Amino acid sequence: MRTVLILTFASALAAQEEVRNPATSAADVEAGAKTFRSHCAECHGIKGDGGRGPNLASGTYYHGSSDAELLRNISDGIPGTEMPGLFYSPDRVWQVVSFLRSLNQRDAVKGDAAKGAAIFKAKGCAQCHRIAGSGGRLGPDLSQIGRSRSSEHLRFAITDPNSDVRQRYWFITAMDKQSRKLEGFLMNEDTYTVQFMDMSERLHSLTKADLGQYKVDKVSKMPSFKASITGNDLEDLVAYLVSLRPAGGSR
Ligand code: HEC
Ligand code: HEC
Repeated sequence: MRTVLILTFASALAAQEEVRNPATSAADVEAGAKTFRSHCAECHGIKGDGGRGPNLASGTYYHGSSDAELLRNISDGIPGTEMPGLFYSPDRVWQVVSFLRSLNQRDAVKGDAAKGAAIFKAKGCAQCHRIAGSGGRLGPDLSQIGRSRSSEHLRFAITDPNSDVRQRYWFITAMDKQSRKLEGFLMNEDTYTVQFMDMSERLHSLTKADLGQYKVDKVSKMPSFKASITGNDLEDLVAYLVSLRPAGGSR
């Protein structure tokens, strides 16, 4: 009886994972890292922790997390998105898959997401961040942050908000010719004009010639929680943020 069960289980696994990564040595991981730096990092970040493309360090992928699915998505790209195909031999794509798996191990999450949700509430994060339609708009919407960012990035975002402030959150303070003070998030800037969103979410577009003076501050509007959220609380909060992702599924 027992043997039968094991066999059934094994064949179910085999059907699901017919293809196995043949390139998993340390040298393969190193070669995969090299390919990643030259072909992927510009969109997925040098550590695979997200940017223009999603975080790849968590081990859970929206378009499929098995080896076979990763091989397909990296070789063929993802139609209808910015994700291009990598036209290399399967061996070399497998090396990239091995590199991604090595990131997954380092990005392990230890905290308790349910406790983290309570901390998110208690610390007033929702004042500035929206999740699934509720919360403030001063900071980015976090509804899918677990998909786009690694746990390492999230930890730093909470303890050291100034370490990586995207241009969208640079803050402009200006004085117009009538000496009125204007301030908000810099949306865009070129030689002659600046566009920004004020704290009431109104967009402004001004020519620089009309501004008496202005300064752009690259410091985050998010307070640091380095002293107030530490140890297990920080890990729980990170686990909660990592859990915020679309349900996923294969295409
Ligand atoms: C031009 C930017 C760009 C480059 C270069 C790029 N990607 Fe992507 N990648 C994306 C985007 C954008 C997505 C998300 C597609 C979507 O909307 O679902 C993505 C998705 C993925 C996914 C699926 C993620 C998931 O959650 O299912 C994997 C895996 C992936 N990329 C790996 C790679 C690898 C490996 C390379 C280098 C060989 C690479 N990408 C190069 C932009 C890029
Ligand atoms: C006063 C408003 C404010 C509060 C309160 C606040 N944040 Fe933020 N947060 C921001 C702004 C603005 C940014 C974007 C600039 C930056 O990256 O620091 C941000 C960025 C982030 C990011 C990075 C998102 C990304 O795409 O990389 C995370 C994660 C985050 N906040 C989580 C939290 C958590 C968790 C709390 C509560 C402990 C919190 N924030 C409290 C305003 C706030």
